[in-house]
Amino acid sequence: MSIEDCRIVELPKIHDPRGNLTFIEGGSHVPFDIQRVYYLYDVPGGAERGGHAHKGLSQLIIAMSGSFDVIIDDGKDKKRIHLNRSYVGLYVCPMIWRELDNFSSGSVCMVLASNRYSEDDYYRDYGEFMRARWA
Ligand code: TYD
Repeated sequence: MSIEDCRIVELPKIHDPRGNLTFIEGGSHVPFDIQRVYYLYDVPGGAERGGHAHKGLSQLIIAMSGSFDVIIDDGKDKKRIHLNRSYVGLYVCPMIWRELDNFSSGSVCMVLASNRYSEDDYYRDYGEFMRARWA
């Protein structure tokens, strides 16, 4: 798995003068079964989130409101992706170190995940992540 396996997923958007609508259906728009949804909000200016990798978890990260950057890093290559549309998700595959920063005021980051929360699935130490990647 490399950062090349991470990709932007454009979700359906129903344009409407009354307000746009986007939907996400399991099995068609997300390349995994959704087991969990969580969101980050009330993020203070200058804060950084993430700073870890997952052993087996796949995620789709969406800027539901406002904007932020996601830095993805496979230990060899690194890329900064700006998310600012509620109909665009970033698919992040397992074994990718990610950091989130540059949150705009009032932004909301929603994450769809392929599994329920498990601390055992995390690498929170970059050195440990690198050793596991290149072992
Ligand atoms: P963490 O995944 O480190 O946050 P982020 O990557 O968004 O900065 O999680 C922060 C805390 O919240 C940590 O103590 C674990 C807890 N947590 C849950 O209990 N359930 C969850 O689904 C998530 C994502 C985190």
